[in-house]
Amino acid sequence: MDKHEITMDKIVSLSKRRGFVFQSSEIYGGQAGAWDYGPLGIELKKNIQNAWWKEMTRMHNNIVGLDAAIFMHPKVWEASGHIANFSDPLVDCKDCKMRFRSDTMDQEALKERKCPNCGGELTEPRAFNLMFKTHIGPAEDSSSELYLRPETAQGIYVNYKNVIQSNRMKIPFGIAQVGKAFRNEIVTKNFIFRTCEFEQMEMQFFVKPGEDEKYFEYWREQRWNFYKKYGVRMDKMRWYHHEKLAHYAKDAYDIEYEFPMGYSELEGVHNRTDFDLTQHTKFSGKDMRYIDQDNGNEKYIPYIIETSAGLTRNVLMFLCDAYEEQNLTQEGGKEDYRTVLHFHPSIAPVTVAVLPLMKKDGLAEMALDIQNELKEDFVTSYDQGGAIGKRYRRQDEVGTPFCVTVDYDSKEDKTVTLRFRDSMEQIRLPISELSTRIHAEIKKYQRV
Ligand code: GAP
Repeated sequence: MDKHEITMDKIVSLSKRRGFVFQSSEIYGGQAGAWDYGPLGIELKKNIQNAWWKEMTRMHNNIVGLDAAIFMHPKVWEASGHIANFSDPLVDCKDCKMRFRSDTMDQEALKERKCPNCGGELTEPRAFNLMFKTHIGPAEDSSSELYLRPETAQGIYVNYKNVIQSNRMKIPFGIAQVGKAFRNEIVTKNFIFRTCEFEQMEMQFFVKPGEDEKYFEYWREQRWNFYKKYGVRMDKMRWYHHEKLAHYAKDAYDIEYEFPMGYSELEGVHNRTDFDLTQHTKFSGKDMRYIDQDNGNEKYIPYIIETSAGLTRNVLMFLCDAYEEQNLTQEGGKEDYRTVLHFHPSIAPVTVAVLPLMKKDGLAEMALDIQNELKEDFVTSYDQGGAIGKRYRRQDEVGTPFCVTVDYDSKEDKTVTLRFRDSMEQIRLPISELSTRIHAEIKKYQRV
């Protein structure tokens, strides 16, 4: 393998070194299945979330937002089928007590009932529910039992009538939501790909039965184009059509991305039919039918097309997709590679870095003034330490698309250098034109 190829270890190491993602509770040896987002990671995550939110709400007149609670009435999970069906088949080793998913483990070891870790005897597979259970209130008995939500979708279904009434929504319409979800995953390897605590970006689109297949195709196209718009390499993405469907689905496709460990699910688009609303009608006793006032008050339970993306999984995808160790070695010269993250400017944690050539002679003050001007429009950073070439490389490594350099000429003629991350091209322009020019460059951004 070429030593400059991307690996998960490189992503983990860069993430820690530059403050994208840290291990949770690291000083205590870490907490499996949980990660903390550092100063750049939180900016990256928020930018992805904002891009998704813009795409799914602002760009559609018929989609509104919601932020439902994580704690929901336990009956929700009975109705949704999660208590009965949301499980992985697991086997336990009777000796070392390790647990394995019987559907993904070495099938030879499973047949022989031998533990892949210690060779000990394995139990029969049994269903292990993925929901975290907790208690609310002072008493710890069955009446206080509560689940941490394993998907955000149910918060939308139970509110769908509230949204129709309060916002005068008419079918077809959608409700979008971003929030935490929790699953007691047994296998939590591959960094932030599969964790016990994660974030989802889900949109539920309510349609008339019979129109579901049309909207299913529409949303598949929309979601594919979202990744295209934000510069994801299309040759790294593909569709996976589910043959084995979840208990709620009539049809399902995943958008898969080629992560360093191979193609894996990034987002799902599901035709959930009228399953969820029918179930909530049964369990709550409330009428969940839509009344079509434009059609003689026809009543029906809408079908739901769901787009369900992992936000934290998207953070990993954007990091992997942006990463390059680019060969800049000159002929006959010393080997020279730069690590660069080619983030789309709307996704990059920092948009503009302002760098004075020297700290002295008033250049630092001038650079800080320029940064203050740019702060209103962009996420900026300021760096005055070390040789300018090294500072450019530091910005490249975290994916800052634009660097502004203030030098001695700047004092004389009020111009600065604008350097572009991907092409490394530099241009000279008046300070007064900086903001407009950066805005224009962002608009015309295309992945190189
Ligand atoms: N509401 C439907 C639903 O939750 P899912 O396929 O189970 O469907 C949707 O999850 C998305 O949530 C996945 O495509 C993935 O991006 C993300 N996701 C699921 N489990 C995850 C986990 N344990 N860690 C990180 N992301 C996860």
